[in-house]
Amino acid sequence: MSRFYVTTPIYYVNDVPHLGTAYTTIAVDALRRYHLLRGDETRMLTGTDEHGQKLEREARDRGISPAQFVKEMSDRFEAAWPKLEVVADDFVRTTQARHESRVQELWRKIEANGDLELGTYEGWYCVGCEEFKTEKDLLPGNLCPLHLKPVERQSGETYFFKLSRYGERLLEHYRDHPGFVEPESRRNEVVSFVEGGLKDLSVSRTNFSWGIPVPGNPKHVMYVWFDALANYWSVLQGDAELEKFWTQGAIFHLVGKDILRFHAVYWPAFLMSAGLRLPTKVFAHGFLTISGQKMSKSLRNAVDPIGIASAFGKVAGSEAAGADVLRYQLLRAIAFGQDGDFDLIAMVERYNADLGKNLGNLLARTLGLCTKMTGGKVPPKGEWTPLEKDL
Ligand code: ME8
Ligand code: MG
Repeated sequence: MSRFYVTTPIYYVNDVPHLGTAYTTIAVDALRRYHLLRGDETRMLTGTDEHGQKLEREARDRGISPAQFVKEMSDRFEAAWPKLEVVADDFVRTTQARHESRVQELWRKIEANGDLELGTYEGWYCVGCEEFKTEKDLLPGNLCPLHLKPVERQSGETYFFKLSRYGERLLEHYRDHPGFVEPESRRNEVVSFVEGGLKDLSVSRTNFSWGIPVPGNPKHVMYVWFDALANYWSVLQGDAELEKFWTQGAIFHLVGKDILRFHAVYWPAFLMSAGLRLPTKVFAHGFLTISGQKMSKSLRNAVDPIGIASAFGKVAGSEAAGADVLRYQLLRAIAFGQDGDFDLIAMVERYNADLGKNLGNLLARTLGLCTKMTGGKVPPKGEWTPLEKDL
């Protein structure tokens, strides 16, 4: 038996759960079920990312407090996943005290290692990505290529994480652990990004306050990505859990390709600095598109997965069966790792062909034969012939 700890990204609550976030969550759930079937001890984590400038602004635009806004939205995520037959062991919110105290602990470890330094930053910031962009990343008109919105000039005092110190060690880690980043094409992108040279990373802000205070300097709140990445580790509380799922066993982060750099470069560097073990694997899948465009709130083309599951549920006989049809379509129709277009007509066709005709017929015939030949009784486990064991 082995241990398998698997995580989804924690989703920003500026958006409701949509088919894109459902895709990662369903894939993680399927992977975890596979490991369960193999007899592994498994643990699945999902949750919501609730700090940062984007969410502070979104709450202000709606005229409610950030705390109230993120609570309402997080509840929708927590309620959504079971409707898609996802069974997670834990749901983390980055506003929980259990998370905040551990993130501060991580900060202190990194500080004690001499990797935090006060300085000033200035750059082009995409609030949607919560990330600085270099000019060559941008589309004409200073637009973020993902959000298609103008980036902002931001500057101020900040703590820098000495990321530049970790380039060699990261490259060594990618070399020694070829499966650390997958698929391979993505791994190559990560390696060449790091080979290009790493700049120190700004990991605190003073221009807004919706974040976790920096220990010893509460004028600063932590950069939302520093806070968010720590969730995978922060939720393991107490020595026994940490030992079980962080020190030992496989740690698998599944993410979309949009956030691979955070998981495959920044996060391992934070962990190295803190003297903690690195995850076993970071796998980046592709984007679900609608007519070729990434599905997202900012592009206003998001599809509601629960609506689709419940519509299919009416035909398939139950809500759970409807969710299964959607899960099957997402995992079967799109080559995992690549981008893929989500197409409702194709989903109906596959439902009829694969699930109705092929699997449905196989099941009906098998059950029919069983009824005829064995009186509908399955032989007790001790009396299986080799044929039954193979089956
Ligand atoms: O990035 N196709 O949160 P987020 C496939 N809070 N996957 C998609 C998708 C699409 N069209 N749209 C979203 C954040 N996703 C951070 C993460 S983790 C420490 C912090 C999925 O709400 C995919 O997994 O923007 C992507 O990486 C993630 O949602 C981004 O979710
Ligand atoms: Mg996003």
